[in-house]
Amino acid sequence: MRRISPLLRPALGVALAIALALGGCTRSDEEDGFRPGSTDLGDPYVPGRGNGGYDVGHYDLDVRYDPATDRLTGRAVLTATTTTGLSRFNLDLAGLEVDRVVVDGASATHRRTGDELVVTPARGLARGARFTIEVAYAGVPAPVVGGALGSGGFLHTDDGAIALGQPDSAATWFPVNDHPSDKATYDLAVTVPEGLAALSNGAPGPKRSADGWTTWRWSERAPMASYLTTLVIGDYQVTTGTHAGRPMVTAVPASEPATGAAAASLARTGAIVDFLASRFGPYPFESYGGIVVADPRIGYALETQSRPVYGPAFFSAGRPNPSVVAHELAHQWFGDSVSLTRWRDIWLNEGFATYAEWLWAEHDGGRTAQRAFEAQYATTDWSAPAVDPGREAMFGNAVYRRGALAVHALRRTVGDDTFFRILREWTVGRRDGNATTDDLITHAERVAGRQLRSLFDAWLVGGSAPALP
Ligand code: ARG
Ligand code: ZN
Repeated sequence: MRRISPLLRPALGVALAIALALGGCTRSDEEDGFRPGSTDLGDPYVPGRGNGGYDVGHYDLDVRYDPATDRLTGRAVLTATTTTGLSRFNLDLAGLEVDRVVVDGASATHRRTGDELVVTPARGLARGARFTIEVAYAGVPAPVVGGALGSGGFLHTDDGAIALGQPDSAATWFPVNDHPSDKATYDLAVTVPEGLAALSNGAPGPKRSADGWTTWRWSERAPMASYLTTLVIGDYQVTTGTHAGRPMVTAVPASEPATGAAAASLARTGAIVDFLASRFGPYPFESYGGIVVADPRIGYALETQSRPVYGPAFFSAGRPNPSVVAHELAHQWFGDSVSLTRWRDIWLNEGFATYAEWLWAEHDGGRTAQRAFEAQYATTDWSAPAVDPGREAMFGNAVYRRGALAVHALRRTVGDDTFFRILREWTVGRRDGNATTDDLITHAERVAGRQLRSLFDAWLVGGSAPALP
């Protein structure tokens, strides 16, 4: 799902009027315009990921997973719109066997090359056409090897499975246009042995059990980047409630004490969301939550949409860890609702999420954001850039720390009122969309009514310590 920028709408209207005046294209013109869609989106951080020529609006996924055999059986129905005339197109799918592909109700031919599923529909698809792709598939899903986060993709655990990872993970368990520039809504039905939980993003739907299996349902109605999907299956204590009238679902491993650090940290979710909303603008999604997993291979937390996943190490000290919760919840605005267009701008996610940790600490009676800024400034390595850090360094210090320093430098430069107006107008105006570093700078300059590019340049990419603002 890509939003057309309001600025482009008049231009599209003019183009449409000209096309209508010319009487449109003949059928054979269209036939001539059918080309194969590109096999990726040209993002050098994720070669092969994403595909060109179409845009997915919705994923309807129905999967069954049996931990006894590690086997997953799935049926995916994608609703998409072409962006060019297509003779064939690709989806990302890593491993798994494809039994059948149906496009617009007609059987399509398909083949696999690496992590690509290449689909040739019976007839070419005209530019701008809405179409459906149905894929029946099965197999033993695999982890992503050599990922930037360490363990990710589809991990088989002692009691179930965890599908998680950034910058990509979704293609290990469903066919997908696997790039954050193509966000879509999701419905998921996941069937697991009765007694196990199956958690994912968004609002819970009705749960049904039959013949020793239980089907859990989840729906995410706000557009979601594919790396923000998660599937967590296993023996969990699930707590279902509401916050601000919307569903709140949290889960901790069944082995975890109900009064332990993990549960106590998740219990802060509502209060932290409300605090962040008071700074960033309205919470962008229709549900809340969090999932703590026990598997030590998950050495990180990830801002999976509406329901972050936290690795066990964050709570191993036995004390609540609201800082990581504030970080992952801040991503719901920065990264999840306003998403990257390309991975080189990852600081837009991590800089604001790190800054949110500073804001929360100050609000919670800890050190002020100004003190955090001073401490970090003093020990920063200015030789590594926050923008375009390189794939290997996308989760490096320069991204997180220089990103947060740049955010606070902006605040010091424009003053609190203008700063928080910049943030709120950004999250509201760009809600459910995508953005780049340049978009943020342009936006900040417009709201502040002054030139800010050299400030961002100095704090994000300059090779030496900038003067303190
Ligand atoms: N987006 C995730 C987060 O910051 C990435 C976690 C990276 N952590 C790591 N140890 N590499 O919330
Ligand atoms: Zn983060």
